[in-house]
Amino acid sequence: MLVLVSTLALPATAQGTKAIEISVDVSKSGATINRNIFGQFAEHLGHGIYDGIWVGPDSTIPNTRGIRNDVVAALRELKVPNVRWPGGCFADEYHWRNGIGPHRAVTLNPNWGGVIEPNTFGTHEFMDFIDQIGSEAYVSVNVGSGTVHEAADWLEYMTAAQPTTLAQERAANGHPDPYKVANLGLGNESWDCGGNMSPDYYTSQMKLYSHFVRNYNPAQQHEQKMLKIAVGPGGAEPRFIDWTETVMKAYQQHTWSWDIDGLSMHSYTVRWRDMYKSTDFGENEYAQVLKLTLDMDSLVNRYSAIMDKYDPQKKVALIVDEWGAWYAPFPGSNPGFLVQQNSLRDAVLAALNLNIFARHADRVRGANIAQMINVLQAMILTDKEKMVRTPTYYVFKMYVPFQDATFVPVTFDAGAYTHGDVTLPRVDAVAAKAKDGKLWLEVTNVDPNQPAEIDLNVAGINAKSAAGETLTAPKVDSINTFDAPNTVVPKSISAKAEGGKLNLKLEPKSVTVVWVQ
Ligand code: AHR
Repeated sequence: MLVLVSTLALPATAQGTKAIEISVDVSKSGATINRNIFGQFAEHLGHGIYDGIWVGPDSTIPNTRGIRNDVVAALRELKVPNVRWPGGCFADEYHWRNGIGPHRAVTLNPNWGGVIEPNTFGTHEFMDFIDQIGSEAYVSVNVGSGTVHEAADWLEYMTAAQPTTLAQERAANGHPDPYKVANLGLGNESWDCGGNMSPDYYTSQMKLYSHFVRNYNPAQQHEQKMLKIAVGPGGAEPRFIDWTETVMKAYQQHTWSWDIDGLSMHSYTVRWRDMYKSTDFGENEYAQVLKLTLDMDSLVNRYSAIMDKYDPQKKVALIVDEWGAWYAPFPGSNPGFLVQQNSLRDAVLAALNLNIFARHADRVRGANIAQMINVLQAMILTDKEKMVRTPTYYVFKMYVPFQDATFVPVTFDAGAYTHGDVTLPRVDAVAAKAKDGKLWLEVTNVDPNQPAEIDLNVAGINAKSAAGETLTAPKVDSINTFDAPNTVVPKSISAKAEGGKLNLKLEPKSVTVVWVQ
């Protein structure tokens, strides 16, 4: 018997509930959980870039070449695989030349509050930032209001090794070596803020960008080839089915001259009418929001099925490059800045979505939570010199072992948690074998009132011990603030093995990751 003991005290009701059997067989394995599903999104929006990342070299806030040291240190712990930039809707109005060289054009940000865009954070600053956090670039080019020529020049500027005029300009601006651009977004929401295009019009534009916007970096011509990601669906409406059919049908007939490696999908957990609040809510809103977020699974199934029709070999990845909770603007904030708090509910929501992506690892090979700092479901909140890690940050940190691990199927009867007219699976679980052979298990107890007792059967290894972390807090709407940053933080748990069986008692409303050995 392997008994896992949490350092947290369990309510007495733990005794009264029926144990849930989870079986893991490590001799069976699925697809690799691509580390890129833990990607992030940083748009020029509100305080996402300015204040959140960029404070400038003259700031009193400790920084390296203008980039906040506290934020970099926190993000390094997440091993962020890629950062999508500069948008979002912003990308389709972004002109890269405004953001290079000693004299930056001052422009406007009409999508997000109509505020001044100083362009002090441009290509070099973004590349410096991802270098400092140890990540890779996912650059979205301007298909809506730019030209193929402009985007092709940007890629030449960033990636050419030969002494072209643009490469020399890059060198004169401080970076003689070519930059690596891992992912290229061919537009953003081109059915909406990216140009209100029809599927056919977008597809013909996208082919031009796919062909002419080249990556010249010698290191990226073979193994590290830049992935090109076309705009895909943004919901379940019929127009998005039509859009996906059109793009994927074109892909099926593509010639040598153009190609795509990914199709983007955007899906927020949002109720546009009467938006949910990010603080001061109760069990009703907890249950309703989590029900809403589980729609991600049917969306992924729906679009995977269309992709399977035209790409049965699954060469094109589904990249969920905008996802997360979108709540009402925080009272007193600029509504165009998409400021919201981040609670324990968001931690549970993040885990449920990451598990959906992991279960679809054969097709979902990238995802970017919206957004990294100070915007929507952020990892980090800042206010001048202050910084706080959110509950979602800790979920991403706990899931680091799942990056590039091999999915191991788990079987369990999740049971049900019912509140009012909402019924949800009571627990969720995924398992994976890391590259070093370690078996990792994640279990989410969705039920905010009842602990969950798990009987875990591990076939294929002689389990001796387990150790890990669990994340919970007193209330579903518990948050971390600048003054109280440790309300929702992971606590250690450890276990001893006996006879290859694990008995795991989970706190209500908790996310738990353990290593079983
Ligand atoms: O993340 C905020 C916005 O949501 C993005 O700019 C846009 O792509 C989406 O509609």
